[in-house]
Amino acid sequence: MKELKITPIKNGTVIDHITPGCAIKVLHILGIPAGTSSVVSVAMNVTGKSGKKDIVKVENRELDPRELNKIALIAPKATINIIRDYEVVKKQNVVLPDEIIGTVKCPNPTCVSNANEPIESRFRVISKDPPRIRCYYCEREPDDIQTLI
Ligand code: CTP
Ligand code: ZN
Repeated sequence: MKELKITPIKNGTVIDHITPGCAIKVLHILGIPAGTSSVVSVAMNVTGKSGKKDIVKVENRELDPRELNKIALIAPKATINIIRDYEVVKKQNVVLPDEIIGTVKCPNPTCVSNANEPIESRFRVISKDPPRIRCYYCEREPDDIQTLI
């Protein structure tokens, strides 16, 4: 039986199969603040076909590649559904690139990417699911990527 926890949307983006509990982080990545006037639905820890998941639905909004990369870092199984006139017109998986440049701040305070140099942070992706990254400069492997985004 198909159970709908939140209503379908007319136009916009549905981010589905988000790691359970991570929807709030996704809202943060999308820059949706407290007091937003956007139409947004959030479901957390709902049971889908393959276990628990979070879902975020944002009306009248499509995501840019930078936002998609960030989402991949915290929710590697997320699917992005573009909705037009109630139909899913495009479905894609988020992809984690091999390198993350300028998105995540290195947690090592003495890392050259944190010095007063015009050097952007740069991480190699060493595992895609679960996401693991290693700083290109100081080799630090952050334990909790979520807190760095
Ligand atoms: N959805 C929505 N509004 C619409 C159409 C779809 O909110 N007008 C949501 C659905 O509730 C679902 C997601 O968009 O969370 C993807 O829809 P669909 O592809 O129809 O669902 P599934 O086939 O279950 O997707 P998947 O195979 O990716 O799990
Ligand atoms: Zn570093």
